[in-house]
Amino acid sequence: MKAQHLMDTIEREILANRLRSWILQAGKLIRDKMNDPLTISTKSNPKDLVTEMDKEVEFFFATKIKEFYPNHLLLGEEGYGHNEINKTDTIWIIDPIDGTMNFVNQKQDFAISIGIYHQGIGEIGYIYDVMSNTLYSALRGNGAYKNNAKLPKLKNEPLSVDESIVAFSHRWLMKNNFVNEKSMQQLVKEVRGVRSYCSAALGFARVAEGSLDAYITMRIEPWDIAAGKIIVNEVGGITTDVQGNELNLLERSSVISAHPEVHHTIVKKYLNRAVKRGARK
Ligand code: IPD
Ligand code: CA
Ligand code: CA
Repeated sequence: MKAQHLMDTIEREILANRLRSWILQAGKLIRDKMNDPLTISTKSNPKDLVTEMDKEVEFFFATKIKEFYPNHLLLGEEGYGHNEINKTDTIWIIDPIDGTMNFVNQKQDFAISIGIYHQGIGEIGYIYDVMSNTLYSALRGNGAYKNNAKLPKLKNEPLSVDESIVAFSHRWLMKNNFVNEKSMQQLVKEVRGVRSYCSAALGFARVAEGSLDAYITMRIEPWDIAAGKIIVNEVGGITTDVQGNELNLLERSSVISAHPEVHHTIVKKYLNRAVKRGARK
């Protein structure tokens, strides 16, 4: 890796500390307003929810970035980001609330997810499970943490698919445009267990902490992926699209983020050939 690709270490440390305190502040803001009436709208379909809170949280970070890092770019879900994003810049990729349906219906199991990339390289990742007050974090090369505890590397012991717990949405078990549902049903038969968290960020976080062995999805956005990829990478997990290809930082994609012992097998045996033509976008 060329030296100019790396963010200055001290600058990165200061940024990470600032961001940590901003995330905790934003989390408190959400918890304090948790029982206020919500304005809920829908986006691409009736199940794609957005609230005033999603927007307020993204605006909070957009304002901080503008004030402290006016040269950095923001790629955010709720429209406060820059229109033109160039991979060579320093980019904050923000999902202010990942798991909005959980936020609205369940009042738990949603997260603030922020990844910072410098010249295409993931430098800082934070996933904050707001209601449980659990902060997953990573600085590239320094390992990953759950609150103040360092997460162990994943590759300590061999792991087979039949011992694994995988997470994906049950919609991939029904006829759909992205993947052959029969292959997904086969995967369900052969793994130890299946979970569905409805927050991509928490899927990544659980892979990183080792409580989940693979998180699989057919179509998510850069802000769903940015932080999780950095954090999982720091414990030796592997994140690719479901055909095993490297992800493009700025594009919507399918994703499998998994323990290194099962990533290859799940891709090869269940996912690779099951993806429908033209389904990646
Ligand atoms: C959604 C969640 C969900 C995933 C969707 C995402 P949002 O994010 O991460 O788990 O399946 O694809 O859009 O809309 O709650 O930020
Ligand atoms: Ca999201
Ligand atoms: Ca969101």
